[in-house]
Amino acid sequence: MSSIDYTDKIPNNVNLSEDRTLQRALEHWQPSYLSWWQDMGPDGSHDFEVYLRTAVSTTPEGWAHFGHVRMPDYRWGIFLAQPEADRRVNFGEHKGEAAWQEVPGEHRANLRRIIVTQGDTEPASVEQQRHLGKTAPSQYDLRNLFQVNVEEGRHLWAMVYLLHKYFGRDGREEAEALLERRSGDADNPRILGAFNERTPDWLAFYMFTYFTDRDGKFQLCALAESGFDPLSRTTRFMLTEEAHHMFVGESGVSRVIARTCEVMKKHGIEDPAEVRKHGVIDLPTIQRYLNFHYSVTIDLFGADQSSNAAIFYSSGLKGRYEETKRDDDHLLKGGSYKILDVKDGALTEREVPMLNALNEVLRDDYIRDSTAGIGRWNKVIEKAGLAFRLAAPHKAFNRHIGTFAGLRVSPDGRVISEAEWAGKVAQWLPSEEDRAFVASLMGRVVETGKYANWIAPPVVGINKQPVDFEYVRFN
Ligand SMILES: [Fe+2]
Ligand SMILES: [Fe+2]
Repeated sequence: MSSIDYTDKIPNNVNLSEDRTLQRALEHWQPSYLSWWQDMGPDGSHDFEVYLRTAVSTTPEGWAHFGHVRMPDYRWGIFLAQPEADRRVNFGEHKGEAAWQEVPGEHRANLRRIIVTQGDTEPASVEQQRHLGKTAPSQYDLRNLFQVNVEEGRHLWAMVYLLHKYFGRDGREEAEALLERRSGDADNPRILGAFNERTPDWLAFYMFTYFTDRDGKFQLCALAESGFDPLSRTTRFMLTEEAHHMFVGESGVSRVIARTCEVMKKHGIEDPAEVRKHGVIDLPTIQRYLNFHYSVTIDLFGADQSSNAAIFYSSGLKGRYEETKRDDDHLLKGGSYKILDVKDGALTEREVPMLNALNEVLRDDYIRDSTAGIGRWNKVIEKAGLAFRLAAPHKAFNRHIGTFAGLRVSPDGRVISEAEWAGKVAQWLPSEEDRAFVASLMGRVVETGKYANWIAPPVVGINKQPVDFEYVRFN
């Protein structure tokens, strides 16, 4: 079961050929998927041969094969992590029961909603990033973009498999709808806010893969704990792919910072306007991009108090991050959690029932994980001997979901007036002018081994290849 059959029309490790009805249904969906990829996948990439990794096994040791692949010929398939012997439902009211191999009838609607919401983010990010190939700073980066894109496409396959196999007719309808919604479309947008934002330039792409793909990691980790075993196994394998996406983001931002610091040192300059004259991105602009992507992403965890989150947990559908490593009763009844609230124009803490605060619990786990990388970026600046430091904005800054929606809060956590916000927002969030400046740097660099002026080359290449390896062959 661990090796993947590539002779099938749809590569898989789920013995698809033994379930003819399912196989036919998915083979019917496949051309719709490919035509979506043709329309909404990476712009103008159809003849490129790209050095991609493809999953060949789902065991942790060496699951990937690397080689040049013509983009539309990438073999998207259905890969589940190995089953765990005697797996149980590990939390909620069904705790201790054998993990479900079929959808529990009473939780069917909620489970479908969870799968559709996750599935919707996957094609959305491909749509958001589809123009970036035209301004890639190097072949190495272009290759990474395409790797992320094909894997997000595969994550859509993963969720569509669950819908087709376990949800019958309405599952098939949801699978169709996943190809019909469009990121940013006024009439038929993607489900979640951050996935309707634009990713207009490569700094935005690196921030997105660092922050928003990390939201993906935390959602997938919570679903990997699910009592519904097929969802757990699917998401566990998706997580192995997700790690690379976050690497692209963290190393990408790090390389932008490294190049900026190099130029600042060389010319002995700190003034952003001076820094910009040398064709690199000044550190305050990087901070504003960070503020934007961070705040938009933490909204994805949902309202700070949520009865849905409580239901998803109590019914065993969606756990906490590292649920089984936690030392409590995994029922959480009677427990409480501190959330932030606003009282008399100031932020204050308030205890609420733990079960209702599970979105906040996951958001706080995410915040810890994502701020660690900011510390690593600061090391790059520190090493260059510069005083500037990046920081995560306050949790209440620029929020559009939950208690802080509609409230004006500064990055350092002060509730402020609309007038102060209006006066300072250009220091806190990317302005039109910032975006125009960053866009002005985005020229396409496609010669093997060359890198755009505004970004440092990576330290090592992909799969231990050199940084001047021919990652993309243009035909
Ligand atoms: Fe994904
Ligand atoms: Fe991802």
